[in-house]
Amino acid sequence: MKRFILDTDPGIDDALTILYALASPEVKMEAITVVNGNCPMEQGVINALSVLELAGAVHIPVAKGMDKPLLLPVVNAEVTHGKNGLGYAELPVPRTSPVKEHAVELIHELVMQDPGQINIVAIGPLTNIAMAVRLYPQIVGAVEHIYIMGGAINHCGNMTPLAEFNIYCDPHAASIVFHSGIPFTLVPLDVTYQTLMTAEDLRRFEAIKTPLSDFIVKASRYVMEYLSESQEIMGCALNDPLALAALFKKDLLEISPLVLDVDTNYGVSMGKTFADFYNYEQKPANGDAALDVKARDFVDHFLERMIKLSQ
Ligand code: RIB
Ligand code: CA
Repeated sequence: MKRFILDTDPGIDDALTILYALASPEVKMEAITVVNGNCPMEQGVINALSVLELAGAVHIPVAKGMDKPLLLPVVNAEVTHGKNGLGYAELPVPRTSPVKEHAVELIHELVMQDPGQINIVAIGPLTNIAMAVRLYPQIVGAVEHIYIMGGAINHCGNMTPLAEFNIYCDPHAASIVFHSGIPFTLVPLDVTYQTLMTAEDLRRFEAIKTPLSDFIVKASRYVMEYLSESQEIMGCALNDPLALAALFKKDLLEISPLVLDVDTNYGVSMGKTFADFYNYEQKPANGDAALDVKARDFVDHFLERMIKLSQ
């Protein structure tokens, strides 16, 4: 069983990832650490707690994390994820509360309790992870692997023409993580924008008529409408769930070791992630990146898990 901490900015596809983790016996979600991103960090904590309550998983600790990027001003994505961060879905105010530890403390505590046993699945801006690396450098040799939903290598950006949202929000944090020495796998838009849950797929949840299936429909429909209007994408891109799949369904992805980096300069390409495919500087690969995916196989696997969880 693969154990992991989910670092997240819930967010619609983040919420789907929380549910997907609960539906997957191959993994154990040890904790959820929240970061500013799709919505302000405080709202993200409420959303994480309410999704766990909806799924009957209140035993999983949730910790408050960084509420702004390392250097840049706060950016959120209300247009994509809605005012509350969960699209059209409205969940009851959670009865549970976050743990008292800060997200960075909880990451340090869990990783150092079982060195080499804990993975991190990072599906929001990387501010919490960068802070953990800076405050507790000893985690570099203790984290098993980081799976990062972020970046766009040969694909255009979704926040600017060049940059993907998670990296764009905090490129300085991304640079710290990419060069930290912690082994990581980047799951960029190159693959996640191929894994689309379609309107036909979503109709299968409409037929189930449970609180959980209703949540999935109302949350996903919001981002499907946004993507079709803004980027002519016909479906809900399963960005974050695919990053979790990289932890335990690697057979669905084509992953390559590469020299990976991010532009931290202010300007048109800020937040752009790139791979030095020809290795001009003759450097060793510092990470892996998924550049192709068995998209429909993943979507079918995801649907099977989520439909079973919803019933
Ligand atoms: O660019 C997609 C990423 O940004 C996803 O993690 C989504 O939730 C948003 O955070
Ligand atoms: Ca996210």
